[in-house]
Parts: sequence; structure tokens; C-alpha cells
Amino acid sequence: MASLKTVLCVGVCLSAWIITTADETFKAENVRWFSLDFKTILIWTTKPSDHKYTVSYSRDGGDWIGCPDCFKVSESECDLTTYLQPYDRTYSAKVQTYPLSDYDYDDPDEFPHTNSQTFNPYIESNISAAVFTVNIVNESSVNVSITDPLTSIHRGVNQLSIRDIFKNDLKYKISYHKSGSTGKKDITSDSSTAQVSELEAGLSYCFMVAAFIPSRPIATQQGAWSMRKCTPGDGNILQELSLGTWVGITFILLTVLIAIVTVTVLCCRCCRQRNTSQLSAPV
Ligand SMILES: *[C@@H]1O[C@H](CO)[C@@H](O)[C@H](O)[C@H]1NC(C)=O
Ligand SMILES: *[C@@H]1O[C@H](CO)[C@@H](O)[C@H](O)[C@H]1NC(C)=O
Ligand SMILES: *[C@@H]1O[C@H](CO)[C@@H](O)[C@H](O)[C@H]1NC(C)=O
Repeated sequence: MASLKTVLCVGVCLSAWIITTADETFKAENVRWFSLDFKTILIWTTKPSDHKYTVSYSRDGGDWIGCPDCFKVSESECDLTTYLQPYDRTYSAKVQTYPLSDYDYDDPDEFPHTNSQTFNPYIESNISAAVFTVNIVNESSVNVSITDPLTSIHRGVNQLSIRDIFKNDLKYKISYHKSGSTGKKDITSDSSTAQVSELEAGLSYCFMVAAFIPSRPIATQQGAWSMRKCTPGDGNILQELSLGTWVGITFILLTVLIAIVTVTVLCCRCCRQRNTSQLSAPV
């Protein structure tokens, strides 16, 4: 009797193990956060199958909260943007794999699952490049006006900017250099408009800006650099050419191009004819 019990027990354990491992192989893998301007998505990889996945998250190590948008989904990503609030908290997420068969699994907590690393949007969300303009004040100074990048967070009808979220924690780095020279200067501005002075009169300067949040750890302090923008200098020949001159230059370039194409086409045809006549010539 005892041995029968053991056999039964082993059998049950074994089948449970087989079932569990079958689903274990379809567990979400490589669960990671992707976040830009506070749009935060959890991404994972799966093996091709009909399995469904459910995402839960927890704030500061608290209870798991199911994410209503990501209940039994077939996709391998989940947009958690609207759930990760307040922003300056530590979130974890887990991706559970639903078994295909309908045997009794009373407790979804037993489903195979994979946990993410922790994530804090305020500290870790990447910040995209800002758009800015450079306005000339006088010959030795300019104003740099930066438009704060928008986030994916809405308050009523308003879409919040990164300034709305970071407030005084948000600074900007402004990097500039003389056009054609490699020596760069960096300044940090507390506000989204900054005056850059002590520029050499008559020279062209190029500017780049990036959001800068010194309260963050170094790895995530700086947003992406913007595109470079340059001021016109006096000595720049290209800028002084009149429209007529540009039309003239374009015309000459076009003529040369057409000439080159014509000569090439003629030459090719010529060569091909010669080749063909050689081939068909009697040996
Ligand atoms: C932020 O950007 C860096 C560099 O592109 C990337 O390695 C990192 O995974 C990104 N972080 C998030 C949370 O998206
Ligand atoms: C430049 O910025 C200063 C203050 O930031 C402002 O008073 C001034 O009007 C601006 N000038 C131009 C030309 O934009
Ligand atoms: C240019 O403007 C800045 C700030 O408005 C001022 O400090 C500076 O003296 C001005 N320079 C010239 C050459 O007018």
C-alpha cells in the first residue's frame, strides 16, 4: 500500500513537473523597460506559441496590481505609461504565462512568470532632443530659446512637457563652438531661454542643446543632443552670393552634368557596337 502511494505520488509530481516545465519553456524572457519622454513600455521575448501573457506591476515593493490593458495578451509588449504614477517611485513588473490547457490551476500566482528589473521613470526615462532657436541680440551675444520636449503624460487636455514634470530639476546644456573650429564651450542654463555672450563679432557660431537633470545619476543625467544650429557670420562667402549668382552656378553645374551623361552614353553605345561587330566577324 505504501509503495502504491509512493508510485502515485511520484506520478502526480512527475506530471505536474512536466506540465510546469512545458509552460516554463514559454516563459517571457529578457523582460526589459523601454522609456522615452515618460512613455514607458515593458518588452519581452517569447518563443512562437499560442500562449497568452499577463502583466502586473508593483510600486515600491508593494502588492502586485494587474495591468488592465495587458491581461492575457498575445503581444510581447505592454504600455505602462499611465500606470507608473507618481513618477518618482520604484516600479517592478512581472509577466505571467498562461497555460494552454484548461487543467485546474487555481492560483494564477503559480503560473510561470518572469520579473523585470526595477524602474523609476523620473530617474531613468530617456529624454529626447529639444528643438531650439538662436536669436541674435547684438554682434557679441545671442539668445538661445529651447522648447521643452513634450512627454506622453496628459493632465486633462494638456500634454505635459518635461518642464512640467522636472520643474526646477530641469536644466539645459548648451554647447557651442566657432564654425570650423573644434574648441567647444559648454554652459548650463537653469531656464529654457539663455543668453550666450562674449562671442567674437562677425564670426559664425554653432549651437547644440540637451536636457540636463543633475539630480539624476550620471548615466541618465543628459538627454539626447539636438541638431546643430549655426549663426551666419560676416566672412561667409556662400551667404553673400546673390540669387543671380546661385542660378548661374546651378546652370553651369547642370550643363556639365548633362555633358558628362551624354558623353558616357555615347561612349558605351560605341563600345558595345564595336564588341558586337567583333563577335559577329567571321573567324
Ligand atoms: C535609454 O537610452 C539608452 C541609450 O540609447 C539605452 O541603452 C537605455 O536602454 C534606454 N533606457 C530606457 C529605459 O529606455
Ligand atoms: C534675449 O533675452 C533677454 C532675456 O533673456 C531678453 O530680455 C531679450 O529681449 C532677448 N532678446 C532677443 C533679441 O531675443
Ligand atoms: C550685447 O548685449 C549684451 C546683453 O544685452 C550686453 O551685455 C553687451 O554689452 C552688448 N554688446 C554690444 C557690443 O552691444
